[in-house]
Amino acid sequence: MKILWIFWVTCVANGEEYFVCGILTILGSWSPLWMTSRLSIGHFIIKKLYSSPSGKNLSDKTEEIEITKQVVGSGLYTRDETGESVNIYPILTSSSIRLIWDSLFAKTFEDDAPDVSNYANAMFAISYYHTRRVFKPWLRPDVVFNLTEGSKLAQEGIQFLNDFARKSVNERRKDWQKKKGLFLKSNFIESDSNEENGKDEDWACYVDFLFEQQEKGLLTEKDVQEEFSVFTVGGYETTSMVLTNTLFLLGTYPEQQAKVVAELDDVFGKGFDANSFKVTMGQVKQLKHLDFCVKEVLRLYPPVPVSPKKNNEDIQLDDGRVIPAGVQLYVSMYCIHRDPKYFPDPEAFIPERFSPDSKHYREKGSYAFIPFSVLPRSCPGQNYGVVNIKVFLAYLLKAYEWTTVTPRDKLKMSYQYTNHPKTQF
Ligand code: HEM
Repeated sequence: MKILWIFWVTCVANGEEYFVCGILTILGSWSPLWMTSRLSIGHFIIKKLYSSPSGKNLSDKTEEIEITKQVVGSGLYTRDETGESVNIYPILTSSSIRLIWDSLFAKTFEDDAPDVSNYANAMFAISYYHTRRVFKPWLRPDVVFNLTEGSKLAQEGIQFLNDFARKSVNERRKDWQKKKGLFLKSNFIESDSNEENGKDEDWACYVDFLFEQQEKGLLTEKDVQEEFSVFTVGGYETTSMVLTNTLFLLGTYPEQQAKVVAELDDVFGKGFDANSFKVTMGQVKQLKHLDFCVKEVLRLYPPVPVSPKKNNEDIQLDDGRVIPAGVQLYVSMYCIHRDPKYFPDPEAFIPERFSPDSKHYREKGSYAFIPFSVLPRSCPGQNYGVVNIKVFLAYLLKAYEWTTVTPRDKLKMSYQYTNHPKTQF
């Protein structure tokens, strides 16, 4: 059951040939590399958490977050015309990749760009074949695994992801250098105050910020590529799972969908125009019932269902048993979130659990609800991710009415680092 170890060993064993994993797989919190990486992310997120592709800071209530038709993709629009049922998971996976690249890396793609589906397919092959090694112990020795077709496909996937990160980072670096040159020429960079002199725009997106860190000697070229990969992978798989599961559950429970739609109509008015839908942070904060729904989805189907940990000291359990130091442990969010002690009727979809006075969530503030894990290795993208998800859901629920074709008891998931649906949504 050494999921992280296997992933990590496969990542680094043969150097360049393997998937660059960045902060996510640095072993041991508080190591200098992890600290540098985490501080970079923290700094960026505080400054630019809700930055739009244009680099504007959306913590200001008047700035608007825009989900464009291009990010959503034509998959839904085409089906809308024919009225066919549609498997939304692959469509929302591509949308989530475009969303992450658009807002974190200022990389915009046509919705049918092959890079997007190639990226999703490559990552699917890596996670599918690597996690099979966890559940099929005979595949664990490299000598055996390397003989399988899965190993070849995973290897090709890794190659694709690494090449893609290199190419994307290099492309963006050229733009950044050009822009930086312009700033220098026009003497913009004179004082330390970024906001006042325009230097802030040098890192309008996360990769630009990483370039600055590299210039200061805090990161290497490879670190920047790794962060590109880890933010893409860490960001899009989780986002697409939450979007898919929320629409699935709202389609299954129309009375909950009606509540969300009524709230959206209150905040945005009754009409909807796909070409000009924009949301401010102030509006996001007003979407209380949508917030409850997203939390309930994160409780029932946490995209990261387990978090691997290694204990440094013996742990004494209440019943007297001891877990010795050095053991690989798995904290299962999936199971914790179903503990009836905290969540009565745990399988039921009750978004109102998350309202402050609800009796369906006991001991709020305990570690019973941990979809993003907890410090120090908790998710640094959680606020950014949840805002993106809510804006995207507001768009999708204004644009369409959702019904499901798969009953909830037929829903099957498979573990591939994150949860993936096995059934069609
Ligand atoms: C709803 C969406 C998300 C969920 C449920 C989620 C969940 C998690 C969890 C549980 C972890 C800890 C993993 C572990 O313990 O092994 C984690 C780590 C991480 N997440 Fe997220 N995440 C989400 C969105 C995002 C987004 C949008 C980004 C980036 C844009 C992101 C970037 C990361 C990174 C870089 C780490 C590694 C942090 C470290 O090791 O210090 N996540 N996430």
